[in-house]
Formats: sequence, C-alpha cells, structure tokens
Amino acid sequence: MSFTVRVPAKVNVQLSVGAARPDGFHDLANVFLAVGLYDEVTVTPADGLTVTCSGPGTDQVPLDRTNLAARAAEMLAARYDRMPDVHIHIVKDIPVAGGMAGGSADGAGALVACDALWGTNASRSELLDICAELGSDVPFSLVGGAALGIGRGEKLTALEVGGTFHWVFAMADRGLSTPAVFREFDRLSAGFDVPEPVARQDLLVALAEGDPDALAASVSNDLEPAALSLFPELAATLAAGRTAGALAALVSGSGPTTAFLVRDSSSAAEVVTALRASGTCRTVRTASGPALGATLLEVSMSEPG
Ligand code: C5P
Repeated sequence: MSFTVRVPAKVNVQLSVGAARPDGFHDLANVFLAVGLYDEVTVTPADGLTVTCSGPGTDQVPLDRTNLAARAAEMLAARYDRMPDVHIHIVKDIPVAGGMAGGSADGAGALVACDALWGTNASRSELLDICAELGSDVPFSLVGGAALGIGRGEKLTALEVGGTFHWVFAMADRGLSTPAVFREFDRLSAGFDVPEPVARQDLLVALAEGDPDALAASVSNDLEPAALSLFPELAATLAAGRTAGALAALVSGSGPTTAFLVRDSSSAAEVVTALRASGTCRTVRTASGPALGATLLEVSMSEPG
C-alpha cells in the first residue's frame, strides 16, 4: 500500500528580517503565499528508511537522513514508538535550493504521508510542532494558502486572500544556500540598526482584496540584496521581467528563483517569452496562488512497479 501527498511551493510577498538572534536565527515578518508548483511525496512500507527522488535538479537532493522527508518520517516514528520503515519517493517540480521551500515541502509531505500510512492520526497541532522542529518554512508547507509567519517564520497566522494572483518564476542554473544568504544579510547589515520586522498593513489589505497592483506596490524582500550580492546575474533576470511588463519583480525567499507578479495569464505569457529570450535563466514557469497546503492525493493498494 502507498500514499501520495502533493505539496506546494511558496513565494514570500513580504520577507522582513530582523537582526541575528543569539541562537543564530533571525526574527522574521514573513508573508507566505503558496503557489501551484508542486512536489509529490509517495511513501511505501519497506525494510528500513530509504529515499529516492526524480525530476529536475535531483542530483542536488540528499538521499540520506539529512533529507527533510527522511527526518520527518524519523520524528513521527519516534513519537509513536515505531520504526521508520518506509520508502519515500519524491517527484520534484519545485526548484531545488531555489528559495521556494522545496525541501520544506518534502518534509511536510512525508509527514502527512507517513501519518496516513502508519495510521498514527497525529493531530494538526502535533503535525505543526514536528514541522516547526524540522525547519522554519515547513509549517507553512503543511497549511498552504497564505499566512504571516513570525518568530523564525514558523509561528503562523492564516491570512485572507480575496483573489488569485498570477506569477511567473525564473529558475536559475544553480542554487543558493539559505544559511549563506542569511550570513550575507548579516555582513551587509553590520553596523546598521536593523529594525524589528513587522507585517505591512497595506500588503495584508492588498492580499485580502485580491488586488495585484496594490500587492505589487507593497511586496518586499530584505534578503534580496544579499541574494544579489552572492548571485549578481539575478539583476539581469529581474530587469528583463520588469521591462516585459511584470507588475513587480523580486527574489523569492533566499533565492535564486526570481518571482514576477503579473496581472493575468496574457501578461504572464509576455513575461515568459521575454525571460526565455533574455537567456538569463535556466527555465521559466507560471503558477498562481494561493494554493492548497499538503494534500493527500492517492492511496494505492498495489506495490509500485
Ligand atoms: O529553519 P531552517 O532550517 O529552514 O533554516 C535554515 C537556515 O536559515 C538556518 O540555519 C539559518 O541560517 C537561516 N535562518 C535564519 N533565520 C530564520 C530562518 C532561517 O537565520 N528565521
């Protein structure tokens, strides 16, 4: 018997970063929007814990116990005093090390899939606790939609969204390490007063009203200068999307994926064409948000072939 869970990518429409805390993390005001690019995580009973992965960028995905999907299975098994005897297969569509929470999605997906496979029936709050332990973005991958994350980004409040927002994403030809981008943020902000991060009211209203122009006027990402400093070529990608008529262009999370908010699907097509022609990125995709969080898709009674 196997269970498959589909989990969305995210884009941060606001990512405000405070000063480094004593534990090395940064307090955030992190407004997440889940978008319709998905990884699928399938779990099947096995002797021991194994992970396989298919899709673009798979060579950069760790298949050992450092993979968040494997850690999720181990943590759930430990709580319920059982062995994590499961094979986890990840079909990747979310860019690897791209700033769209692909690794976090796999953690949340494996957790929900193992909970179904093992019949552990963990409560929502128990699942969210495990997610928060796995990583700062993992709780949002579980819940999806739109949410404000404070603390490390793991303390979530769901946000109202009054419409569909259309996006174009440009994937880069290499990844960026999230810790390295935060370290660069620290380096660039050394000697400056870093204000307490707070959610912007105009941005929350823009989301609630489903107003793309108002959202475009209020998006921001404090990690963008750090990502650009480590990956200067991203400036050309951002410029190409802006010139083609994107309402807003920003680095997604810690990057290097760049995100372009567009008014509708015809404007998305123009931005896609321009980004492809620019030769500044590996691949270009469209997706809209909000999207559902981790969703159990399929139960198969037969062993996968
Ligand atoms: O929580 P997660 O393991 O995803 O974080 C990865 C890294 O990103 C952390 O080790 C830390 O360097 C950085 N980070 C941070 N502040 C946050 C979230 C992440 O400094 N709020």
